[in-house]
Amino acid sequence: MALRKIVKEGDPILLKKCRPVEKFDQKLWDLLDDMVETLAESGGVGLAAPQVGIMRRLCVIDVGGGAIEFVNPEIIETEGEQRVQEGCLSCPGEFGIITRPMHVKARFQDREGNFCELEGDELLAQAMCHEFDHLDGILFKTKVERMLTEEELREMREEE
Ligand code: CO
Repeated sequence: MALRKIVKEGDPILLKKCRPVEKFDQKLWDLLDDMVETLAESGGVGLAAPQVGIMRRLCVIDVGGGAIEFVNPEIIETEGEQRVQEGCLSCPGEFGIITRPMHVKARFQDREGNFCELEGDELLAQAMCHEFDHLDGILFKTKVERMLTEEELREMREEE
């Protein structure tokens, strides 16, 4: 396993639509292993393949219970709303206020290619929306109500 370099905002790769994963092979598993390791090291909640320079539809999310791998994910149901703070590993130090669904049901494939469904609330629902958006070249900043001010960021850091 190896850490991958995280692509930062400004790189046009983050604005491109990713292609579906077609081969469930060792190369994919190595990539997923690297992404899980890179996410753990970053302290973030989610990491999408384009953020490590790979234009394929996969991402990893860990909201505290271990990493979940999503290959070719799509949202098939949403419910409710939550107005939350959000950031992105590709936009370090920046956070915005955004409205996301409170509940999300997703369909995706695992690393073997098996189809799965997963339902999530709150942070997991938010993370699924954020990471799946990356696969269509959409950054959270294009969906925020507003970004946090310097003062709000300072308060946030003090609370940590
Ligand atoms: Co992100």
